[in-house]
Amino acid sequence: MILAVETSCDDTAVALLEGCHAIAERVHSQEVHSKHGGVVPELASRSHMEILPGLVNDVLLAGGMDSLEGIDVLAATAGPGLTGSLLVGLAWSKAAAWAAGKRFLGINHLAAHLYIHYGQEHQVVFPAVALLVSGGHTSLFRMNSWQEILLLGSTRDDAAGEAFDKTAKLTGLGYPGGAALDIAADKGNPDRYPLPSPMADPSLPEFSFSGLKTAVKLLWEKGADRSDLAASFRRTVVDLLISKLMYQCEVLGAKSVLSAGGVTANSLLREVLRKECSARNLELFLPDKEHSTDNALMVGRAAAAILDRNPEAFSPLSCNAFARWSGRSLSPIGSP
Ligand code: KG4
Ligand code: ZN
Repeated sequence: MILAVETSCDDTAVALLEGCHAIAERVHSQEVHSKHGGVVPELASRSHMEILPGLVNDVLLAGGMDSLEGIDVLAATAGPGLTGSLLVGLAWSKAAAWAAGKRFLGINHLAAHLYIHYGQEHQVVFPAVALLVSGGHTSLFRMNSWQEILLLGSTRDDAAGEAFDKTAKLTGLGYPGGAALDIAADKGNPDRYPLPSPMADPSLPEFSFSGLKTAVKLLWEKGADRSDLAASFRRTVVDLLISKLMYQCEVLGAKSVLSAGGVTANSLLREVLRKECSARNLELFLPDKEHSTDNALMVGRAAAAILDRNPEAFSPLSCNAFARWSGRSLSPIGSP
């Protein structure tokens, strides 16, 4: 039995798992940031402190437990993320593990997004290419197995989700506005405003979204239509993501595609992923929308994967939070 905690940004999430199987889970999305137009780190940490203990109780009760006695391992995201936010979940989990005499595992948040697909009935066939698109990251990985996940390239500036959020904020769709922009785009004409596609060469596994954001800003200031601009922006981002992903699948002879991270909730991205993967006979692993954005089930499954390889595995209680991950080889174990 694994109790998993995720507090890397502005979602407080807890899950109870038996191996990879979800017994109970809860996510609390902090509303406090919307009026500030972005995540305020100090407010995020305070909110995690207030919400986390109650959320743990709710999840334990939903799983028929009233203490940590039945838990074998506590797992928490160690990074990357906002340090103050990470520390709340990490310190709580380490302290609870120590007090209850249980083992603790620190987890890498980026790997966890991919591990939502681990240990499921529909198994990943390797080699695979993974697209990780969230508010903080946009990267492509080559997966030779669950043990060998190699970074192909990342964004050089903004993450795709960040570009969605900034465009949504600019066009009055609120914060975080990725999902609102997605809805607005459904009503718009994607051909109305041709936008630049920075670093469009499909063979380059890197991204750049800051120029696109500037082009949108100029059009908006000239009175562009909101829905048409949203549709044009969404299509440009999705085309960039898909062309680079499919190029890598072809050159690496991939059999599967894994997609994860908050932007995977985007309806156009989901539609195009399904279409392109089916046309190329690629198995597609797409989380449902709730498990595309931050959640604790993915943290629990990353922990389950570590334990499948080594049932005695544990992280030392000196395991600390880290804001950035700068490796080439991605492991579910939480270290920078
Ligand atoms: O994975 P996530 O919950 O947190 C990070 O690890 O960053 O991703 C959050 C990001 C936000 O930028 C949010 O606007 C974006 O995912 N997002 C979307 C949609 N739903 C969430 N972006 C585009 N379309 C959506 N439907
Ligand atoms: Zn995330």
